[in-house]
Amino acid sequence: MASVRRAVILAAGLGTRMLPATKSVPKELLPVVDRPIIQYAVEEAVAAGIEHVVIVLSPDRAAIREHFGGGSRVEAVARARGDDALAERVLAPERLARFTFVEQREPLGTGHAVQQAEPHLDGEPFALLFPDDVILGERSCTAQLVQAYEACEAAAVIAVQQVAREQIHQYGIVDPAGAGNPARLRGIIEKPAASEAPSDLGVVGRYVLGPSIFGELASLKAGAGGELQLTDAIAGQIAAGAPVYACRFEGRRFDAGRPAGAIAAAVCAALDREELRADLLAHLTALMPTEQ
Ligand code: G1P
Repeated sequence: MASVRRAVILAAGLGTRMLPATKSVPKELLPVVDRPIIQYAVEEAVAAGIEHVVIVLSPDRAAIREHFGGGSRVEAVARARGDDALAERVLAPERLARFTFVEQREPLGTGHAVQQAEPHLDGEPFALLFPDDVILGERSCTAQLVQAYEACEAAAVIAVQQVAREQIHQYGIVDPAGAGNPARLRGIIEKPAASEAPSDLGVVGRYVLGPSIFGELASLKAGAGGELQLTDAIAGQIAAGAPVYACRFEGRRFDAGRPAGAIAAAVCAALDREELRADLLAHLTALMPTEQ
C-alpha cells in the first residue's frame, strides 16, 4: 500500500460567514493568534508526514499563494537590516512543505474542487483537509487518520465527531457498522434532516482518500445544494464494497469559518502558548462576570 505523502487543502470558499473581514482577505488567511487558519492545516498535515501540499484556490485568492511562496517586502527589509531571525519567521510558511496551487474556476462543490488536484497526485493516496476546521491537540488529526488508513488497508478514512441533533443538517453523517474505532461504514449522507440521519457522527473536514475516489468523482451528479458533493463520491465507494472507515479522533475541533468558532480556536491556541498564557488568562478573568 502506497504511503500517504501528499495532502490536498481546499481553500476556494467564499467566506460569507466572516464578512466583511473576508471581502478582500481570503477567510483562510484570517489569523488564529498569529498564524493564518490555513497554516494550521498545513502544519497538521506536515506532522503526519506529508511532504507535498496541493492547495485548491479560487482565481481571486492569490494572497494564499503569496503566503506559501517566496519573497516578501518584510523579508527584503529584514535582510537589508541584517535581521536574520525576522527573515526566518517570514520564510517559515514556505519551508513547511512543497506547495502546488491549482484553481477551481467555479464554485461547483467539494467533489469538483478535489477533482482539480488529481493531476498532482500521481495516483497516490492523499490527505484532504478543509482549513475552516481547526483541530488542536497533541496528536495531529491527519496523523491519526493516516495510521487508521494503513492499519485497516482502507479505501478511505474520514474524521468524525458527535454532533448535537440541531446541527446534524450542517454535516455529512456516517452510518457505522459497529461501535469500534475506527468503524467500517455502511453508508454516508450529506446534510440529512436529523430525523433521517443514520447516527449523530458528523464528518469533520479531514479525510484520507485512496485514488479510487476519482473514479467515483468522474461519474458524480449534483447532490445537496445542487453541488458535486465529495460525500456522494464516498457513498459510491462504500456502495461498490470498498472498505471505508470513520475515525473518532483525539483533539479539539473548532469551526473557524464562523466568528464564535474562530474566537474559541484563538483562545485555545493562545492558552497553549507559554508566552501568551498568563496575559490572556488575566484578560479572560477580568472579563468574567463577578458573583453577586
Ligand atoms: C463540508 C462537507 C460536510 C462536512 C463539513 C465539515 O461541508 O460537505 O460533509 O461535514 O464540511 O466541516 P461544508 O461545511 O463545506 O458545508
